[in-house]
Amino acid sequence: MNGGEGSGAVSDFQHRPVMSREVVELLLPVPNGLLVDGTVGGGGHASLLLDARPDWRLLAIDRDAEALAAARSRLARFGDRVEFVQAEFGDLGEVAGERGDIVGLLLDLGVSSHQLDRASRGFSYRYDAPLDMRMDAGSELTAATVVNEYSEELIAALIAHNGEERFARRIAREIIRRRPLHTTGDLVDAITAAIPAPARRRGGHPAKRTFQAIRMEVNRELPNLERGLDESVHLIGPNGRILVLAYHSLEDRIVKQRFQQWAGNDRDAPEPPSKIPLDEVRRAELRATESVVTVLTRKPLRPQPVEIADNPRAESARLRAAQRNAG
Ligand SMILES: C[S@@+](CC[C@H](N)C(=O)[O-])C[C@H]1O[C@@H](n2cnc3c(N)ncnc32)[C@H](O)[C@@H]1O
Repeated sequence: MNGGEGSGAVSDFQHRPVMSREVVELLLPVPNGLLVDGTVGGGGHASLLLDARPDWRLLAIDRDAEALAAARSRLARFGDRVEFVQAEFGDLGEVAGERGDIVGLLLDLGVSSHQLDRASRGFSYRYDAPLDMRMDAGSELTAATVVNEYSEELIAALIAHNGEERFARRIAREIIRRRPLHTTGDLVDAITAAIPAPARRRGGHPAKRTFQAIRMEVNRELPNLERGLDESVHLIGPNGRILVLAYHSLEDRIVKQRFQQWAGNDRDAPEPPSKIPLDEVRRAELRATESVVTVLTRKPLRPQPVEIADNPRAESARLRAAQRNAG
């Protein structure tokens, strides 16, 4: 981890782009035109991509104003090849819809090192800060609302689901017992008290999974990913590519399922009904949506050990790519 804890100056925005060689290699074959970086962060991937192909223009999106300011500064040398928009990539249709076909879309999910390292943002269990965790400081839902206003059942469910935390019910009960919680420190104390001592000593910081779960709820990360992907498939031009770097198994599952569905080999899709008049219509609809894309990564690509040694944040990364078919 790096970044200027506390100062927040743009020049402090250090986030090492994950699997950057693989990202650039996978995007290089697309036609010239408009690339979209839906999670531009500090502009790490974006600057490598703009250097790699002078014929690309870039629409740089982030919902975090601080990230966008950092990207603006880092990408200034590319002049009017880059346009910056503070937005939610789930609204991609609205943001990019008027600009014609997109030749490539990159989504590098989750939080940046900078967001984690800025104590005041409340993302990290390492610092005592207000319970915020919003990527977009203008959005309404904060971590304080989640922990102080959600029901015990809902808190337990989201910690179990988003955090894959086996002590979710105990943690939720302890949060309710201690309400109101004011700071991330209060939340860490509640989590630590709820987890049995032997389990606390295993598997990293005891608050890691619960913080992740609450952050994903505050920022609606899974629904936004679904929306963004569903929008993107209509906006990518022939032979254009969609790349997603996921750091969480639930995110990766959404990407995998969407890609399979668009490629026409979605094993979970219901069989079309066989004996009713609508049958033909349904089959035609299915044919029309079949093989919209070719999946380029049957299994997700993982970072090389040397990258993980150099940047531990890369460890959980999974990179998937799909190409929009020309026909
Ligand atoms: C892992 S960082 C991206 C780092 C970037 N690839 C780089 O190399 O500097 C993720 C960024 O995506 C942004 N983000 C996450 N979800 C988003 C969403 N749904 N819409 C827009 N931005 C989002 C975060 O604010 C954060 O800045």
